[in-house]
Amino acid sequence: MRYFIGLMSGSSLDGVDAVLVEIGEGGAQFKLLASSYLPFSTDIREALLALQSRGFDEVQRVTQAANQLMVVYADCVLDCLKKAGIPSQQIIAISAHGQTVRHRPEFGYTLQINNAALLAELTDIDVIADFRSRDIAAGGQGAPLIPAFHRSAFGQLGETRVVVNIGGIGNISILRADGSTSGFDTGPGNILMDSWIMQHQSQTYDVNGAWARQGKVNRALLEHLKDDAFLRQAPPKSTGRELFHAEWLEQKLTQFNDVSPTDVQATLCALTAHTLVDAIIAYAPDVHRVFICGGGAYNTMLMDTIKLALDAQTTQKVRPHVSVDSTEVLGIAPNHVEAMGFAWLAYRYTKRLTGNLVEVTGASGERVLGALYPR
Ligand SMILES: Nc1ncnc2c1ncn2[C@@H]1O[C@H](COP(=O)(O)OP(=O)(O)O)[C@@H](O)[C@H]1O
Ligand SMILES: [Mg+2]
Repeated sequence: MRYFIGLMSGSSLDGVDAVLVEIGEGGAQFKLLASSYLPFSTDIREALLALQSRGFDEVQRVTQAANQLMVVYADCVLDCLKKAGIPSQQIIAISAHGQTVRHRPEFGYTLQINNAALLAELTDIDVIADFRSRDIAAGGQGAPLIPAFHRSAFGQLGETRVVVNIGGIGNISILRADGSTSGFDTGPGNILMDSWIMQHQSQTYDVNGAWARQGKVNRALLEHLKDDAFLRQAPPKSTGRELFHAEWLEQKLTQFNDVSPTDVQATLCALTAHTLVDAIIAYAPDVHRVFICGGGAYNTMLMDTIKLALDAQTTQKVRPHVSVDSTEVLGIAPNHVEAMGFAWLAYRYTKRLTGNLVEVTGASGERVLGALYPR
């Protein structure tokens, strides 16, 4: 039996998603046995958010936050084991992504704060961590790493599929009909919408996009938001909170003081949808089907906007209708996909198989990703 636990906490800073999966020999089959989700307490979220930019005594704050994060990770692991009724000895490894506090491939590093030694101590299970550094050492972006898993889980020869992951940042995987795969970060996913609703309504996110639905998209503002060097840049590319954050938005809004907060939210929802659809049209013009995962898949307003934008673009180009569904229709719930992907990367590590794709990250070669902290 090949049981793995995948732990993912992404740039949305919402909490930790965990899955306990059985991975078949060869890594082509995945069976979900249990899942768990623990939202971050306000304390942890604020500590992690503060670490996204420069500040006082970062070393102490980073290490303390990492230790606090491990307690949440361990709770998620124990919850999964309990739900599945599987003892810890039967788990081959935990995949612990850690929390990104800096992503600067242009300076040769990315930092996911983590304490794999402590997690191994708290759970008595092997922990595999630090998946991104090796790809950066090989000249890559270190991100996105999920396209290889998307190919394995969702690819279909003879049909071009795009898998869209809407976390804090948006990214797409292009699974071409001929078996080749590419992918890149497209820009903001939920980050800006989350930050705007927190500022105006003290909510961590816009549930089902209900607030955005009340507003009207401001076309001039949308164009101004889209006027950004990262959005224009050709892949390979990856980004994070160092680019798309509250100050980026504040700066962009200086000339748009008269737009109501509700209309800004509607426009931010359109920004996420349009940047994703523009990327799909530009880099996967032969797409047949689109599948959405990540927390953004639960934002029904965002899903509707993506469908409309894609329909508008595809009709203009006189192409057949492109279907848009959640990954649920392929058997994996949107909120489990990334944690499963990291469980799969841990499986790859245990077999000393490579995890990155050079077409995606731009690395000089495929590499085994991760580092092991034995139980
Ligand atoms: N029901 C929902 N309605 C709207 N947005 C949602 C909903 N559920 C989750 N989200 C969004 O998804 C985010 C979490 O997505 P997730 O895939 O965990 O991102 P990350 O990988 O960055 O942590 C939340 O911050 C929120 O913006
Ligand atoms: Mg999350």
